Parts: sequence; C-alpha cells; structure tokens
Amino acid sequence: MLTHIKEIVEEKVKNQTAAGAFNTFNLEVTQGIVSGIKKSNLPAIIQVTEKSIKYAGLEALYCLIKKTIEKESGDVPIAIHLDHGKNLEVLRACVELGFSSVHMDASEYSFEENIKLTKEAVEIAKEKGVWVQGELGNIYGKEGLIKMQQGEDLKKLMTNPEQIKEFIERTGVNTVAVSIGSMHGNFVGEENIDFARLKKITKEIDIPIVLHGGSGVEDKQVKKAIGGGVRVINVDTDLRIAFTNSLKQTIKMEGNLVDPREVIKPSIEAVSQVVEKKANLFNI
Ligand code: G3H
Ligand code: 13P
Ligand code: ZN
Repeated sequence: MLTHIKEIVEEKVKNQTAAGAFNTFNLEVTQGIVSGIKKSNLPAIIQVTEKSIKYAGLEALYCLIKKTIEKESGDVPIAIHLDHGKNLEVLRACVELGFSSVHMDASEYSFEENIKLTKEAVEIAKEKGVWVQGELGNIYGKEGLIKMQQGEDLKKLMTNPEQIKEFIERTGVNTVAVSIGSMHGNFVGEENIDFARLKKITKEIDIPIVLHGGSGVEDKQVKKAIGGGVRVINVDTDLRIAFTNSLKQTIKMEGNLVDPREVIKPSIEAVSQVVEKKANLFNI
C-alpha cells in the first residue's frame, strides 16, 4: 500500500525499531523488494538515486515502483523516497511527481553551504507536504572517499555531534542521515559503528536518525544501532550482490536459457530473500 513516509517512520519511532530503505533502479529489483517487504509484513521504504534516475528515467522509474507497490504489496505500507539528491532540480521533480520524501545530500559542502542548500530543499518540499532528509558528515565508501582517505583519520569525516542541533534547527529537516562508521558498499569487518558518537547525537536531537551504508554492518551492530536510536537503515549493495550473483549462477547453470525473463527470475527471488531478512532484522 503506497503510504507517506511520515506514517512509516513515526510508527518506527513509537516502536523503537527501524524501517529498511531499499534501493532500486529497475523493474525486477523493485519486484524483489516489494515481494520481500510483503513477506516480512513490515512497513518499508523504496528509494532511487540520481544515477538510477539517469539510468531508467524519473517518470518510468516512479511509475513502475508506484504500480508495483499498488498491485503487489497488499496492506503493507511502502513509501517512495529520493536517496542522495544532490541537484535541486531533480529533487523538485521528485516532489512534483509524488515522492513523499527526498534526501538533500549537501554533505560535501561546508556547514553553512549545506544548511543553505538543505533549507532550499525544505522550502521546495514543504509546499507538497513532502519530508526532507538532511545529511551531516560524510558517509564514505565505494563512492570514493574511502580511497582518498585511506590512512587518514576517518573520524574527521563523521558527523560532529556539536553541530547537529544547529543543522536541524536552521534547516527544518524531518530526518537526518549521520556518518557514524557505516560505509557505502559491503565491507564486512571494516564497518564499525561509533556508538559513543551516536549517543551524543541522540542526546542533542529528537528527529529520526537514518543510517546509510546498511550493507556490511554486522547484525549485532545493526541491532545495537537501532537500540541507540536509528530509525531508518539504507540497503543497496547487498541487493546488488544478491541480484548479480544469482544472475551469474543462472547463466552458468542454465546455459541453454535464452529467454531473459527466465534468466532474471531467480535474481528477483534472491533480492526478495535479502529484503525479507533485513526487514526482520531491523524490526528487533
Ligand atoms: O548510496 C547510495 C548508493 O548505494 C549509490 O548508488 O550507484 O545509484 O549512485 P548509485
Ligand atoms: P549500502 O550500499 O552500503 O547498503 O548503502 C546504501 C545506502 O546508504 C543508500 O543510500
Ligand atoms: Zn547512502
């Protein structure tokens, strides 16, 4: 059931659990995500990045996600969100189209510039009752920062708890993404949550916290992060791994298959299984 993100996240705040926010870029990954969410019977978020919008086209992507939710999710609430919006025009287009939430990621800029851009996003979104996620601190990982920062103190890139209250007050965001040790990509064993930092952050603010880089964080740490106040957890890479590994295996095992619909089918199921497992993990 297509739902405003507000309903989903507010319920998570009440239950002190977290919603999964799963990334898609095409029909089959969307089908896998919706199927996994439905099996878990837990409200969740489906999100797209600007790169995926470029890949598939905004309208096409939005319509296929919306229709798949409406036709396949039954009564389980699902919201549509823009992930890592960096361009205000793309963000505006998502707001106009019907997304119930958008992420303004101006975290690469100075504190003042981040506030300025995020505030502009809030102005755009407000008119349509759309929620905005802000971001303070750099979430490093496969996007490049981790390579650039190797050997340096990665803690310098994390969210500064002393700035977060001001950031939220001056921007008016509804949720906030923080950098506390998880990374974009699956780096098991290297992703360690800084729980002391999370505690300082939650002491300062009372809006829901979003943890990016959900792939590769050990289950024990995920549970502790939810206990520490995280209310949304983003997962992308683990879905890509499940989808692509399954595709490779199918091609290897079923060499005679030429119908792409048959080749791709097990990948939909592989995504569905990961989503169901993660959604249940986040519901502790
Ligand atoms: O953080 C978000 C994604 O994992 C990166 O996605 O490759 O679609 O930009 P992208
Ligand atoms: P992972 O790819 O590490 O799961 O991160 C996803 C994410 O944060 C999307 O915004
Ligand atoms: Zn992210």
